[in-house]
Amino acid sequence: MECCIASALWCLIPLYLLVHLLCFMFADADFTLLWASVTGHRPETKLKSLVVWVTGASSGIGEELAHQLARCGSRLILSARREDELNRVKHRCLDCSNLQDEDILVLPLDLLERTSHEEKAKTAIQYFGHIDILINNGGRSQRSLCLETSVDVYQALMELNFLGTVSITKKVLTHMTRRGSGSIVTVSSLAGLAGVPLSTGYSASKHALQGFFNSLRNELTDSPNILISTVCPGPVQSQIVHNAFTEELNKCQGNVDRTTALPPVLLRLAVRSHICLAPNELDEQEKGAELQSWSGCRLCILH
Ligand SMILES: NC(=O)c1ccc[n+]([C@@H]2O[C@H](COP(=O)([O-])OP(=O)(O)OC[C@H]3O[C@@H](n4cnc5c(N)ncnc54)[C@H](OP(=O)(O)O)[C@@H]3O)[C@@H](O)[C@H]2O)c1
Repeated sequence: MECCIASALWCLIPLYLLVHLLCFMFADADFTLLWASVTGHRPETKLKSLVVWVTGASSGIGEELAHQLARCGSRLILSARREDELNRVKHRCLDCSNLQDEDILVLPLDLLERTSHEEKAKTAIQYFGHIDILINNGGRSQRSLCLETSVDVYQALMELNFLGTVSITKKVLTHMTRRGSGSIVTVSSLAGLAGVPLSTGYSASKHALQGFFNSLRNELTDSPNILISTVCPGPVQSQIVHNAFTEELNKCQGNVDRTTALPPVLLRLAVRSHICLAPNELDEQEKGAELQSWSGCRLCILH
Protein backbone atom coordinates (compact mmCIF):
# COMPACT_ATOMS: atom_id res chain seq x y z
CA MET A 1 0.00 0.00 0.00
CA GLU A 2 2.79 2.42 1.04
CA CYS A 3 4.61 1.50 -2.13
CA CYS A 4 1.55 2.45 -4.20
CA ILE A 5 1.25 5.85 -2.51
CA ALA A 6 4.95 6.54 -3.03
CA SER A 7 4.84 5.65 -6.72
CA ALA A 8 1.67 7.74 -7.17
CA LEU A 9 3.48 10.66 -5.60
CA TRP A 10 6.45 10.14 -7.90
CA CYS A 11 4.06 10.27 -10.86
CA LEU A 12 2.34 13.38 -9.56
CA ILE A 13 5.56 15.38 -9.21
CA PRO A 14 6.41 15.37 -12.95
CA LEU A 15 2.76 16.05 -13.71
CA TYR A 16 2.83 19.03 -11.34
CA LEU A 17 6.03 20.31 -12.95
CA LEU A 18 4.57 19.81 -16.42
CA VAL A 19 1.48 21.85 -15.55
CA HIS A 20 3.69 24.65 -14.24
CA LEU A 21 5.83 24.54 -17.36
CA LEU A 22 2.74 24.76 -19.55
CA CYS A 23 1.43 27.64 -17.43
CA PHE A 24 4.73 29.41 -17.85
CA MET A 25 4.68 28.90 -21.61
CA PHE A 26 1.15 30.16 -22.17
CA ALA A 27 0.59 32.60 -19.31
CA ASP A 28 0.76 36.36 -19.55
CA ALA A 29 2.11 36.79 -16.04
CA ASP A 30 4.53 35.29 -13.51
CA PHE A 31 3.43 32.60 -11.04
CA THR A 32 2.88 35.00 -8.16
CA LEU A 33 0.45 37.08 -10.19
CA LEU A 34 -1.27 34.04 -11.64
CA TRP A 35 -1.76 32.65 -8.17
CA ALA A 36 -3.04 36.02 -6.94
CA SER A 37 -5.45 36.22 -9.86
CA VAL A 38 -6.91 32.84 -8.84
CA THR A 39 -6.94 33.27 -5.07
CA GLY A 40 -6.97 37.07 -4.58
CA HIS A 41 -9.91 39.37 -4.00
CA ARG A 42 -12.17 39.94 -6.98
CA PRO A 43 -12.11 43.60 -8.09
CA GLU A 44 -15.88 43.52 -8.46
CA THR A 45 -16.31 43.53 -4.69
CA LYS A 46 -13.45 45.85 -3.80
CA LEU A 47 -14.20 48.60 -6.30
CA LYS A 48 -17.93 49.10 -5.71
CA SER A 49 -18.77 52.73 -4.81
CA LEU A 50 -15.13 53.83 -4.82
CA VAL A 51 -14.42 57.15 -6.51
CA VAL A 52 -11.96 56.60 -9.35
CA TRP A 53 -10.41 59.37 -11.46
CA VAL A 54 -9.22 58.06 -14.84
CA THR A 55 -7.08 60.26 -17.09
CA GLY A 56 -6.90 59.44 -20.79
CA ALA A 57 -10.46 58.12 -20.50
CA SER A 58 -11.57 59.21 -23.97
CA SER A 59 -10.19 56.16 -25.80
CA GLY A 60 -8.22 52.93 -25.64
CA ILE A 61 -7.17 51.54 -22.28
CA GLY A 62 -8.70 54.44 -20.34
CA GLU A 63 -12.07 53.96 -22.02
CA GLU A 64 -12.03 50.22 -21.34
CA LEU A 65 -11.00 50.82 -17.72
CA ALA A 66 -13.89 53.28 -17.29
CA HIS A 67 -16.25 50.73 -18.78
CA GLN A 68 -15.12 47.92 -16.51
CA LEU A 69 -14.97 50.11 -13.41
CA ALA A 70 -18.54 51.25 -14.10
CA ARG A 71 -19.62 47.62 -14.25
CA CYS A 72 -17.95 47.12 -10.87
CA GLY A 73 -20.03 49.99 -9.47
CA SER A 74 -17.23 52.54 -9.08
CA ARG A 75 -18.13 56.22 -9.33
CA LEU A 76 -16.06 57.85 -12.04
CA ILE A 77 -14.29 61.04 -12.98
CA LEU A 78 -13.42 60.85 -16.67
CA SER A 79 -10.65 63.11 -17.97
CA ALA A 80 -8.91 63.78 -21.28
CA ARG A 81 -8.93 66.72 -23.69
CA ARG A 82 -11.86 65.70 -25.95
CA GLU A 83 -15.06 66.41 -24.05
CA ASP A 84 -17.34 64.93 -26.73
CA GLU A 85 -15.47 61.63 -26.56
CA LEU A 86 -15.63 61.67 -22.76
CA ASN A 87 -19.39 62.13 -22.96
CA ARG A 88 -19.58 59.18 -25.36
CA VAL A 89 -17.61 57.06 -22.87
CA LYS A 90 -19.85 58.26 -20.04
CA HIS A 91 -22.98 57.13 -21.89
CA ARG A 92 -21.37 53.81 -22.69
CA CYS A 93 -20.59 53.39 -18.97
CA LEU A 94 -24.14 54.31 -17.95
CA ASP A 95 -25.56 51.84 -20.47
CA CYS A 96 -23.56 48.91 -19.09
CA SER A 97 -23.97 49.58 -15.35
CA ASN A 98 -26.39 50.56 -12.61
CA LEU A 99 -24.72 53.95 -12.22
CA GLN A 100 -26.79 57.12 -12.39
CA ASP A 101 -25.91 60.23 -14.38
CA GLU A 102 -24.54 61.98 -11.27
CA ASP A 103 -22.18 59.06 -10.56
CA ILE A 104 -19.96 59.99 -13.51
CA LEU A 105 -18.29 63.37 -13.78
CA VAL A 106 -16.83 64.38 -17.13
CA LEU A 107 -13.88 66.63 -16.35
CA PRO A 108 -11.96 67.77 -19.45
CA LEU A 109 -8.26 68.07 -18.70
CA ASP A 110 -5.08 68.76 -20.63
CA LEU A 111 -2.13 67.09 -18.92
CA LEU A 112 0.14 69.69 -20.52
CA GLU A 113 -1.67 72.61 -18.87
CA ARG A 114 -0.14 72.18 -15.48
CA THR A 115 -1.45 75.49 -14.15
CA SER A 116 -5.00 74.14 -14.48
CA HIS A 117 -4.36 70.97 -12.48
CA GLU A 118 -4.95 72.44 -9.01
CA GLU A 119 -8.38 73.69 -10.07
CA LYS A 120 -9.24 70.39 -11.80
CA ALA A 121 -8.28 68.36 -8.74
CA LYS A 122 -10.32 70.70 -6.52
CA THR A 123 -13.37 70.25 -8.79
CA ALA A 124 -12.98 66.47 -8.76
CA ILE A 125 -12.60 66.31 -4.98
CA GLN A 126 -15.49 68.69 -4.31
CA TYR A 127 -17.86 66.80 -6.61
CA PHE A 128 -17.65 63.46 -4.78
CA GLY A 129 -16.13 64.70 -1.50
CA HIS A 130 -13.00 62.60 -1.99
CA ILE A 131 -10.98 60.50 -4.45
CA ASP A 132 -10.18 56.87 -3.67
CA ILE A 133 -8.16 55.96 -6.75
CA LEU A 134 -6.32 58.01 -9.34
CA ILE A 135 -5.49 56.15 -12.54
CA ASN A 136 -2.79 58.01 -14.45
CA ASN A 137 -3.40 56.67 -17.91
CA GLY A 138 -3.28 59.62 -20.34
CA GLY A 139 -0.24 59.72 -22.59
CA ARG A 140 1.22 59.40 -26.07
CA SER A 141 3.74 57.10 -27.63
CA GLN A 142 6.48 57.55 -30.24
CA ARG A 143 7.44 55.87 -33.48
CA SER A 144 10.73 57.29 -34.76
CA LEU A 145 14.40 56.47 -34.83
CA CYS A 146 16.56 58.37 -32.37
CA LEU A 147 18.87 59.73 -35.05
CA GLU A 148 15.94 61.22 -36.95
CA THR A 149 14.04 62.63 -33.96
CA SER A 150 14.06 66.26 -32.92
CA VAL A 151 14.89 67.03 -29.28
CA ASP A 152 11.57 68.92 -29.17
CA VAL A 153 9.82 65.56 -29.47
CA TYR A 154 11.74 64.25 -26.46
CA GLN A 155 10.76 67.35 -24.51
CA ALA A 156 7.09 66.94 -25.51
CA LEU A 157 7.08 63.28 -24.42
CA MET A 158 8.55 64.13 -21.04
CA GLU A 159 6.17 67.08 -20.60
CA LEU A 160 3.14 64.91 -21.28
CA ASN A 161 3.90 61.41 -20.05
CA PHE A 162 6.14 62.33 -17.12
CA LEU A 163 5.53 65.89 -15.91
CA GLY A 164 1.80 65.92 -16.69
CA THR A 165 1.37 62.73 -14.69
CA VAL A 166 3.58 63.96 -11.84
CA SER A 167 1.62 67.21 -11.69
CA ILE A 168 -1.81 65.54 -11.37
CA THR A 169 -0.37 63.00 -8.93
CA LYS A 170 0.95 65.73 -6.63
CA LYS A 171 -2.45 67.44 -6.46
CA VAL A 172 -4.25 64.21 -5.62
CA LEU A 173 -1.53 62.96 -3.28
CA THR A 174 -1.94 66.04 -1.06
CA HIS A 175 -5.62 65.13 -0.70
CA MET A 176 -4.86 61.45 -0.06
CA THR A 177 -2.19 62.12 2.58
CA ARG A 178 -4.63 64.43 4.42
CA ARG A 179 -7.24 61.68 4.25
CA GLY A 180 -4.71 58.97 5.11
CA SER A 181 -5.77 56.62 2.33
CA GLY A 182 -5.98 56.22 -1.41
CA SER A 183 -4.45 54.49 -4.34
CA ILE A 184 -2.48 55.93 -7.25
CA VAL A 185 -2.20 53.63 -10.24
CA THR A 186 -0.05 54.64 -13.17
CA VAL A 187 -0.25 53.02 -16.56
CA SER A 188 3.40 52.74 -17.43
CA SER A 189 4.46 50.27 -20.11
CA LEU A 190 6.71 47.40 -20.90
CA ALA A 191 8.79 50.22 -22.39
CA GLY A 192 9.09 51.57 -18.83
CA LEU A 193 11.03 48.43 -17.89
CA ALA A 194 12.93 47.56 -21.03
CA GLY A 195 14.21 49.44 -24.04
CA VAL A 196 12.04 49.41 -27.16
CA PRO A 197 13.25 50.38 -30.64
CA LEU A 198 11.60 53.44 -32.26
CA SER A 199 10.54 54.58 -28.79
CA THR A 200 13.61 56.07 -27.14
CA GLY A 201 11.74 59.13 -25.86
CA TYR A 202 8.58 57.22 -24.93
CA SER A 203 10.60 54.56 -23.15
CA ALA A 204 12.59 57.25 -21.30
CA SER A 205 9.38 58.95 -20.16
CA LYS A 206 7.97 55.66 -18.88
CA HIS A 207 11.27 54.76 -17.17
CA ALA A 208 11.09 58.18 -15.52
CA LEU A 209 7.61 57.33 -14.23
CA GLN A 210 8.88 54.03 -12.84
CA GLY A 211 11.69 55.84 -11.00
CA PHE A 212 9.34 58.51 -9.70
CA PHE A 213 6.70 56.14 -8.39
CA ASN A 214 9.17 53.60 -6.97
CA SER A 215 10.77 56.44 -5.01
CA LEU A 216 7.43 57.92 -3.98
CA ARG A 217 6.35 54.53 -2.65
CA ASN A 218 9.44 54.53 -0.43
CA GLU A 219 8.69 58.05 0.78
CA LEU A 220 5.22 57.04 1.89
CA THR A 221 6.20 54.46 4.50
CA ASP A 222 4.37 56.56 7.13
CA SER A 223 1.17 56.36 5.08
CA PRO A 224 0.67 52.60 4.72
CA ASN A 225 -2.86 53.07 3.40
CA ILE A 226 -1.71 54.99 0.36
CA LEU A 227 -0.88 52.51 -2.35
CA ILE A 228 1.35 53.35 -5.28
CA SER A 229 1.15 50.98 -8.25
CA THR A 230 2.50 50.91 -11.74
CA VAL A 231 1.02 48.70 -14.41
CA CYS A 232 3.22 47.73 -17.32
CA PRO A 233 1.17 46.44 -20.23
CA GLY A 234 2.60 45.02 -23.41
CA PRO A 235 1.05 45.98 -26.75
CA VAL A 236 -2.66 46.80 -26.60
CA GLN A 237 -4.75 47.61 -29.62
CA SER A 238 -5.80 51.27 -29.33
CA GLN A 239 -5.28 54.68 -30.92
CA ILE A 240 -1.76 54.83 -29.47
CA VAL A 241 0.12 54.20 -32.70
CA HIS A 242 -2.09 56.55 -34.67
CA ASN A 243 -1.47 59.32 -32.10
CA ALA A 244 2.23 58.62 -31.66
CA PHE A 245 4.88 61.32 -31.90
CA THR A 246 7.25 60.91 -34.84
CA GLU A 247 10.47 62.66 -35.89
CA GLU A 248 9.03 66.17 -35.71
CA LEU A 249 6.47 67.65 -33.33
CA ASN A 250 3.83 68.35 -35.97
CA LYS A 251 4.29 65.22 -38.04
CA CYS A 252 1.57 62.64 -37.49
CA GLN A 253 2.14 58.93 -37.43
CA GLY A 254 -1.19 58.22 -39.11
CA ASN A 255 -1.98 54.61 -39.78
CA VAL A 256 1.54 53.42 -40.54
CA ASP A 257 2.49 50.93 -37.87
CA ARG A 258 6.26 50.64 -37.62
CA THR A 259 5.90 48.33 -34.64
CA THR A 260 5.48 45.55 -37.18
CA ALA A 261 9.28 45.54 -37.18
CA LEU A 262 9.15 43.82 -33.78
CA PRO A 263 8.77 40.06 -34.18
CA PRO A 264 6.11 38.63 -31.82
CA VAL A 265 8.57 36.22 -30.28
CA LEU A 266 10.73 39.11 -29.03
CA LEU A 267 7.73 40.78 -27.48
CA ARG A 268 6.73 37.54 -25.83
CA LEU A 269 10.19 37.10 -24.34
CA ALA A 270 10.28 40.70 -23.17
CA VAL A 271 6.91 40.25 -21.51
CA ARG A 272 8.03 37.09 -19.75
CA SER A 273 11.18 38.65 -18.38
CA HIS A 274 9.36 41.16 -16.21
CA ILE A 275 7.33 40.33 -13.21
CA CYS A 276 5.05 43.31 -12.81
CA LEU A 277 2.80 42.61 -15.75
CA ALA A 278 -0.89 42.33 -15.26
CA PRO A 279 -2.36 38.91 -15.88
CA ASN A 280 -4.42 39.46 -18.94
CA GLU A 281 -6.23 37.65 -21.64
CA LEU A 282 -4.10 37.67 -24.72
CA ASP A 283 -5.78 37.27 -28.01
CA GLU A 284 -2.83 36.60 -30.17
CA GLN A 285 -3.47 36.87 -33.85
CA GLU A 286 -0.37 35.99 -35.70
CA LYS A 287 -0.46 37.47 -39.17
CA GLY A 288 2.98 36.96 -40.58
CA ALA A 289 5.33 39.25 -38.69
CA GLU A 290 2.54 41.49 -37.45
CA LEU A 291 2.45 42.70 -33.91
CA GLN A 292 0.36 40.66 -31.53
CA SER A 293 -2.44 42.55 -29.93
CA TRP A 294 -4.40 42.46 -26.73
CA SER A 295 -7.97 42.71 -27.84
CA GLY A 296 -9.39 42.30 -24.35
CA CYS A 297 -8.02 44.51 -21.61
CA ARG A 298 -9.13 43.08 -18.28
CA LEU A 299 -9.21 45.36 -15.30
CA CYS A 300 -6.18 44.66 -13.18
CA ILE A 301 -4.76 46.93 -10.54
CA LEU A 302 -1.40 45.89 -9.16
CA HIS A 303 -0.10 46.97 -5.79
N1 LIG B 1 -1.60 50.68 -26.35
C1 LIG B 1 -0.48 50.14 -25.95
O1 LIG B 1 0.10 49.30 -26.62
C2 LIG B 1 0.10 50.55 -24.62
C3 LIG B 1 1.06 49.72 -24.03
C4 LIG B 1 1.61 50.08 -22.82
C5 LIG B 1 1.20 51.24 -22.21
N2 LIG B 1 0.27 52.04 -22.79
C6 LIG B 1 -0.10 53.28 -22.10
O2 LIG B 1 -1.48 53.28 -21.90
C7 LIG B 1 -1.95 54.61 -21.81
C8 LIG B 1 -3.18 54.76 -22.69
O3 LIG B 1 -2.83 54.53 -24.03
P1 LIG B 1 -3.84 53.92 -25.12
O4 LIG B 1 -3.18 52.74 -25.69
O5 LIG B 1 -5.19 53.77 -24.56
O6 LIG B 1 -3.79 55.07 -26.23
P2 LIG B 1 -4.91 56.06 -26.78
O7 LIG B 1 -6.10 55.30 -27.24
O8 LIG B 1 -4.22 56.96 -27.76
O9 LIG B 1 -5.33 56.89 -25.50
C9 LIG B 1 -4.55 57.93 -25.00
C10 LIG B 1 -5.38 58.76 -24.07
O10 LIG B 1 -4.55 59.83 -23.56
C11 LIG B 1 -5.23 61.05 -23.71
N3 LIG B 1 -4.32 62.16 -23.89
C12 LIG B 1 -3.40 62.34 -24.87
N4 LIG B 1 -2.80 63.54 -24.73
C13 LIG B 1 -3.36 64.13 -23.65
C14 LIG B 1 -3.18 65.37 -23.00
N5 LIG B 1 -2.33 66.31 -23.45
N6 LIG B 1 -3.92 65.65 -21.90
C15 LIG B 1 -4.82 64.76 -21.45
N7 LIG B 1 -5.05 63.57 -22.01
C16 LIG B 1 -4.32 63.26 -23.10
C17 LIG B 1 -6.11 60.85 -24.95
O11 LIG B 1 -7.27 61.67 -24.90
P3 LIG B 1 -7.46 63.08 -25.67
O12 LIG B 1 -6.83 62.94 -27.01
O13 LIG B 1 -8.95 63.24 -25.71
O14 LIG B 1 -6.81 64.10 -24.80
C18 LIG B 1 -6.56 59.41 -24.77
O15 LIG B 1 -7.69 59.33 -23.94
C19 LIG B 1 -0.78 55.50 -22.24
O16 LIG B 1 -0.18 56.05 -21.09
C20 LIG B 1 0.17 54.55 -22.90
O17 LIG B 1 1.49 54.96 -22.80
C21 LIG B 1 -0.29 51.72 -23.98
